[in-house]
Amino acid sequence: MEHRRLGNTGLKVSVISLGCMAFGRWIDEKTSLQVFDAALDAGITLFDTADIYGRGMDSRNPLQSGESEAILGRIIQKRRSKIILATKVNGKVGLGPNDHGLSRYHITRAIEDSLKRLQTDVIDLYQVHRFDPDTPLEETLGALDDLVKQGKVRYIGCSNYAAWQIAKAHGISQQKGLNRFVSVQPPYSLLVRDIEQELLPFCESEGVGAIVYSPLARGLLTGKYVDGGAHPAGSRADRADRALLALLAKPQILQNVCKLQEFANERGWSLPCMALAWVAKRAGVASAILGASRPEHVQAIEGLAEIKLQEEDMVVLDSICTSPSG
Ligand SMILES: NC(=O)c1ccc[n+]([C@@H]2O[C@H](COP(=O)([O-])OP(=O)(O)OC[C@H]3O[C@@H](n4cnc5c(N)ncnc54)[C@H](OP(=O)(O)O)[C@@H]3O)[C@@H](O)[C@H]2O)c1
Repeated sequence: MEHRRLGNTGLKVSVISLGCMAFGRWIDEKTSLQVFDAALDAGITLFDTADIYGRGMDSRNPLQSGESEAILGRIIQKRRSKIILATKVNGKVGLGPNDHGLSRYHITRAIEDSLKRLQTDVIDLYQVHRFDPDTPLEETLGALDDLVKQGKVRYIGCSNYAAWQIAKAHGISQQKGLNRFVSVQPPYSLLVRDIEQELLPFCESEGVGAIVYSPLARGLLTGKYVDGGAHPAGSRADRADRALLALLAKPQILQNVCKLQEFANERGWSLPCMALAWVAKRAGVASAILGASRPEHVQAIEGLAEIKLQEEDMVVLDSICTSPSG
């Protein structure tokens, strides 16, 4: 497993990380442990979760949040020093008006809950889950900076931010001498490429590490969904993952996936490995967060290191995925 610097920090992260959004939401603790162990065996060191991950995401009951962190907390007890632990704050974790968002009030309470669930003294990368238009950035950055100074957090990052929002935050951090966001977590895959316009060039230029999520487009880039076929039982589409269903509703997407599958087959590569290799090759990307609901999904990346995408491969893959649907 390759390890890369996270932006312009000295922290090294595995180029493939494991997303723990399925833990306690779609898979039980036993399977979560198997997935986690498969990830460690594959050389993955960066593990990503969030305070809201759990059954509450589907039931829309914020009181059911936190199960992913709680399971991960139990799993990592004897392995804490082997991993880089990342979690997030902002989502709704309670019914009160201050049980979400990026106010100093919420952040200082949410970190204690996350530390407790994760059974650790320190979170390596604490990320704000999305922009909060109701809270001044100065307040959020001040609260996050305090957490770093208190030793509860090592680095701070953001997720689902636009380039201008990070630029604004960096300006405030610099002006006030506060810790700055070292990373951003956006969606990115062969099929979802919006960040190429602004965010990725910004990351490269400003030394912000992009830790990209849904690199397999929520399972589409495994070839498990076929045109006109029923969704595989128990899959994310079967569980009505809205973002995935929105992609599946675009008529050309599955045709593009077919072309990508053919391209991979011709070279003897698996489609998911090729999709991950493509993401990892893009400038500015520090790590791609793989999601897995079975240990086999992690074991399937075994062939990744052997895939050496050449410039001509990138051109063909671009031409497939920048067609009108792509
Ligand atoms: N910051 C944010 O707002 C945000 C949003 C979304 C995700 N994330 C993070 O990113 C992580 C990954 O997201 P994601 O789960 O959407 O990533 P993904 O890697 O694009 O999709 C993962 C899904 O693909 C399927 N899959 C993976 N490998 C497979 C294989 N070899 N064969 C067949 N199917 C395979 C599984 O679907 P099935 O379960 O259907 O089998 C799995 O759940 C999350 O866990 C979370 O940590 C962050």
